[in-house]
Amino acid sequence: MTQEELFKKLIAHCKEYGFIFPSSEIYDGLGAVYDYGQNGVELKNNIKRYWWDSMVKLHENIVGIDAAIFMHPKTWEASGHVAAFNDPLIDNKDSKKRYRADVLIEEWMAKQDEKIQKEVEKARKRFGEAFDEQQYLATSPRVADIVAKRDGVHKRFVEALDKNDLVELRQIILDCEIVCPISGTRNWTDVRQFNLMFSTQMGSTADGASTIYLRPETAQGIFVNFLNVQKTGRMKLPFGIAQIGKAFRNEIVARQFIFRMREFEQMEMQFFVQPGTEMQWWNEWKNTRMAWHRALGFGDEKYRFHDHDKLAHYANAATDIEFNFPFGFKEVEGIHSRTDFDLGRHQEYSGKKIQYFDPERGENYVPYVVETSIGVDRMFLQIMSAAYCEEKLEGGDERVVLRIPACLAPTKVAVMPLVKKDGLPELARQIIDDLKFDYNVSYDEKDSIGKRYRRQDAVGTPFCVTVDHQSLEDGTVTIRHRDSMQQERVAIADLRRMVDEAVSFRPLYKKIKE
Ligand code: GAP
Repeated sequence: MTQEELFKKLIAHCKEYGFIFPSSEIYDGLGAVYDYGQNGVELKNNIKRYWWDSMVKLHENIVGIDAAIFMHPKTWEASGHVAAFNDPLIDNKDSKKRYRADVLIEEWMAKQDEKIQKEVEKARKRFGEAFDEQQYLATSPRVADIVAKRDGVHKRFVEALDKNDLVELRQIILDCEIVCPISGTRNWTDVRQFNLMFSTQMGSTADGASTIYLRPETAQGIFVNFLNVQKTGRMKLPFGIAQIGKAFRNEIVARQFIFRMREFEQMEMQFFVQPGTEMQWWNEWKNTRMAWHRALGFGDEKYRFHDHDKLAHYANAATDIEFNFPFGFKEVEGIHSRTDFDLGRHQEYSGKKIQYFDPERGENYVPYVVETSIGVDRMFLQIMSAAYCEEKLEGGDERVVLRIPACLAPTKVAVMPLVKKDGLPELARQIIDDLKFDYNVSYDEKDSIGKRYRRQDAVGTPFCVTVDHQSLEDGTVTIRHRDSMQQERVAIADLRRMVDEAVSFRPLYKKIKE
């Protein structure tokens, strides 16, 4: 199965099993907007809990807030979003499709890297055991050609982005002979800038109404509350403010399911530090955040850092944590050193002094900020991509199983009476009545036990508990483990402890803090 086929299956699975539905589907949906279904919302809530607790519970010096989506319009002038939150867009005149010019070029550069890797693999086969990859990369004329071309384009690309040179961006697209994937032609328009913020009117009359924006990032709600939190919480630098909430961007090229949405959710933490210490904290947060991802156990090789070619208007260092999705390595999280740009600008635009008195230094200053920013929806897609698994079983049977880490699984236990009579459903209900105070538990009495197991595998339930006639006699049940499919007989009285151990976030938090 190709990665593309896998991704299509994953999207279909998300819908079939109540994880994600297209928004307002009965009206044919709304582009790049999605709803989370009964299983999706549980997984999403668990992701948010994993993030929130790892920030707010594990760090004495991080607190949370929940700011409003609507903010004073001056916020977005101060933050630079009105002037500079733009994407460079280009249209293909034949297909009438619109693309981000920077993404077209980045994809072209990624293709050159793939070409180099293919050359290496070919040579490895040719030379067998004697193959020395480093020597090959240093001496192959074919590889040297590709590298020179890629590096040349990379240099031009970075310069064009820095200078905001849209003519040069178009020229790179022409020089690299990039074609539209739909029409296959190189009939491109000029490159234009497009602001990504959604706006609306607040106030009832046309005269009195003012234009306000739907926030494109949650971060500004934290910056404008810096003084409130610092003073009321008596916070000392370094300290952080965390927030989870919706953000909105009028993405022109919305693709890849929930990867790029117009309404999405962010989990952001702004860490306020002494000026001059920001690089040390930036490195620290890079490591902490990478450990948070890796603790999920999907495999360290699935993640990598990608440093930004073009820094956002507020940053002096930035990296992405990328995950290997079915459509390649893509950004899941950004870790940005935002300098004193945001607080400094809010100070300037509001006329209020936004500073911190440092008792150690005996002076006031505007703190520097290191930000960690991750999309809940991208994290959701990461987990679904890594967890989705089609398996052939002994006896020719097949199953689709979601190997979601137990602590994140939407439902922890499914309880099933073997038959719908003889008091088995009643005992199953008693077990649920005990477990439901701690976990999401479901009841299933329909179809054969095999079919019921498959249904639970498909939504990632880590445990199925079967109640049979023996259960009535000796108070034991069969517990079946999702991943190994092993079954064991355990006392009903021990169930809670077993499930507790398996679904706890604790081992993950310990890994992050190691
Ligand atoms: N406050 C900084 C900031 O917003 P960003 O790199 O633009 O930085 C941070 O966004 C994260 O938000 C991304 O790494 C991604 O996970 C998520 N994100 C951004 N745009 C998104 C979109 N259109 N759809 C889904 N997630 C998005």
